[in-house]
Amino acid sequence: MTCRIAVFGTGYLGATHAACMAELGHEVLGVDVDPAKLSKLHAGEVPFYEPGLEEVLKRNIENGRLRFSSSYEEAAQFADVHFIGVGTPQKKGEFAADLTYVDAVIETLAPLLTTPAVIFGKSTVPVGTAERLGRRARQLAPAGDQVEVAWNPEFLREGFAVKDTLHPDRLVLGVDQGRPGRAEEVARSVYSQLLDEGIPFLVTDLATSELVKTAANAFLATKISFINAMAEVCEAAGADVTVLADAIGHDVRIGRRFLNAGIGFGGGCLPKDIRAFMARAGEIGADEALTFLREVDNINMRRRTRMVELVREVVGGSLIGSRIAVLGAAFKPDSDDVRDSPALNIAGQIQLQGASVSVFDPKAIENSRRIFPTLNYASSVNEACSGADAVLVLTEWDQFKQLKPSDLDSIVRNTIIIDGRNCLDRDLWVDAGWEFTAVGVASERRASTLP
Ligand code: UDX
Repeated sequence: MTCRIAVFGTGYLGATHAACMAELGHEVLGVDVDPAKLSKLHAGEVPFYEPGLEEVLKRNIENGRLRFSSSYEEAAQFADVHFIGVGTPQKKGEFAADLTYVDAVIETLAPLLTTPAVIFGKSTVPVGTAERLGRRARQLAPAGDQVEVAWNPEFLREGFAVKDTLHPDRLVLGVDQGRPGRAEEVARSVYSQLLDEGIPFLVTDLATSELVKTAANAFLATKISFINAMAEVCEAAGADVTVLADAIGHDVRIGRRFLNAGIGFGGGCLPKDIRAFMARAGEIGADEALTFLREVDNINMRRRTRMVELVREVVGGSLIGSRIAVLGAAFKPDSDDVRDSPALNIAGQIQLQGASVSVFDPKAIENSRRIFPTLNYASSVNEACSGADAVLVLTEWDQFKQLKPSDLDSIVRNTIIIDGRNCLDRDLWVDAGWEFTAVGVASERRASTLP
């Protein structure tokens, strides 16, 4: 059955959801308050880099199933299924999530709802938000109790957003169990194609559905910080964290995925989500349960300072006057997102300690320049590495993984490379005479003599 859907917010989450819902055959209106984003989307352009999204967007604009607007009135008249896909960033100077944008959707939309409607929240929110928004929506809407708020958390990864939306691992729906309504039935029609494919569909209460998302991200962050803590131990012990990860990863209870040691996690989700989770646990009297996440955060942030120290060591003890090439600025490959990017953070710290830093990234230069205008940005790997005292690989783009020593031999000043993501072939570089350092592995320079 075709549904008439409005999606509020056209960022990574909203734009992808809107385009993918149209791809499933629904009629969709994407709504945003940012005219610049809307005019790009109108023209079939994705305002950020996400492989495969532009084709889905264009196809569905052309077949008439997908439109964009800034008008909440139009959305309220057009659709009876609404999705909230706006951002919930970290509050400035606090751990908690800023719910301004989520609240604004309800405050603006609900007074316009004169007929029955279901509002599905997809944004990551602190537990208890959905229930509060439901109360507020019923209070504001002329249709009153016929307006339902349910929660349908989104688990998409940047770089795989289309696949993760059209073929997710699972669908989770939280419904207000005190007021059984149409939310589950509506969700079943929206996602009927996915359900027919056998994708697991878990229906639960609102609080559990909100927690599923934060718990998943807390687990992933913990897994990365666990292996990064092991990297610290391996460096001290003269062991190799990559082999360790491979070996423990064979245990199916542990699993090898998300066990790559490096410069740690960043991006618009994991860092702020674990902090918001800790803040909310404090508010509801469960803070002790999540104190370990503070350590997860600390281990993660320590990776960045550790990397800066490593660079200082390899260039001879001081960064002043050295030339450093940084390959990678995005928080992960196949993305142009630089929010809380470890790569860019490290580049900035190195420059502040007196080095001249030249950064190259295949997609993220424009965004990097906006938030870090004082770094030098190169337009190619060769330009970034020209005259470099050390080359740092900080985001594991395929282009960097495929680099060969002979590509850089005659360009750099010193043949020194640091692999911040354990993504390069050590033997290839060492055999070509390069000094090669990876994280979580004792370097020749720091040959271990254990007490
Ligand atoms: C994450 C969650 O995976 C997703 O389910 C949620 O909806 C949003 O947050 P995303 O931010 O797109 O998705 O990136 P993800 O692939 O999870 O990577 C997060 C960070 O962890 C990146 O900086 C990445 O480089 C780092 N990472 C990932 C590691 O350092 N090691 C790993 O083994 C995996």
